[in-house]
Amino acid sequence: MTRIAGGAAATAFALERGDAAELAGIQAGLRAVPKILSPRFFYDARGSELFEEITRLPEYYPTRAERAVLAEWMPELIAQLRPRALVELGAGAAEKTRLILDAMSARIPDPVYLPLDVSAEFLLDTAARLRRDYPGLAVRPLVADLELPFTLPRLPGPMLVAFLGSTIGNFNFPEAIRLLRRVRHQMQPGDRFLLGMDLRKDVAVVEAAYNDARGVTAEFNLNALQVLNERVRADFDLGGFRHLAFYRRAAHRIEMHLVAVRAQEVTIPGIGVVAFEEGESVRTEISCKYDRATAVGMLSDADLSLADWRTDPEGRFALALAAPLP
Ligand code: AVI
Repeated sequence: MTRIAGGAAATAFALERGDAAELAGIQAGLRAVPKILSPRFFYDARGSELFEEITRLPEYYPTRAERAVLAEWMPELIAQLRPRALVELGAGAAEKTRLILDAMSARIPDPVYLPLDVSAEFLLDTAARLRRDYPGLAVRPLVADLELPFTLPRLPGPMLVAFLGSTIGNFNFPEAIRLLRRVRHQMQPGDRFLLGMDLRKDVAVVEAAYNDARGVTAEFNLNALQVLNERVRADFDLGGFRHLAFYRRAAHRIEMHLVAVRAQEVTIPGIGVVAFEEGESVRTEISCKYDRATAVGMLSDADLSLADWRTDPEGRFALALAAPLP
């Protein structure tokens, strides 16, 4: 492997690949103390598949808990709101979304579904499957990065915007509020926001969910380095890092890290050499856990007000329904 310590040729290579801003973000994160990488690097096609596998793990309770709330609530909520369009942020495989789409298909003429996701390949597969399974549904996929501004097309109203899975928890509070505000300011008074939130609970339960026995979460975490190797021609040795996930009580969040198992240097064209000491980690994800008061505060900071709040019977996961504040 040729080692390039920065320089114009290397930068030109990264620019050719079309994303100078992404490279600058990687550079800033790897120069920070402690080092940070955006969770966006989890989600290439392989990472999206691994995430779907995580959702089926016995330890990973959020998906099952959220599904229980959706199954119980959606027929009633859709009958009441009668949304003509569903926008789903971070749609992924849109498996749980089917509970909303089933309720819409049974009640709404010519419903529209706009799944939005950063992983184009995965999104197009999802769209194709849904077109096949819901012949009356107009599916209009939109590739977009939730970390950046995006504009929703004009859709028939009222619109229901869903952000499921507690993906909001992967943003820190200022970023989460920025994202919610961005969506809020594209909503009309009759539109509603449905937000999935993982709730605070016994730390051991949360830690087990991010340290599964089969090691799927570890593989998902390490895949971020593979994505960087492919996307910006980094030379991360995946065997040089191990998965770590732990709950940070004061911040009410679980964090995922990749810890260097030995001192090593990684070269990224356009950035240069990044040194890791033995035991040094790069944080790859935060996953914030909420309670109702925190949810109300976050929503109101985004000019949204809590209209309804439902949890699964064990109180592990909540769906918050929010209306735009005037
Ligand atoms: C996508 N997101 C809500 C998941 C979470 O639980 O924060 C990602 C994940 N990370 C590890 N396991 C699942």
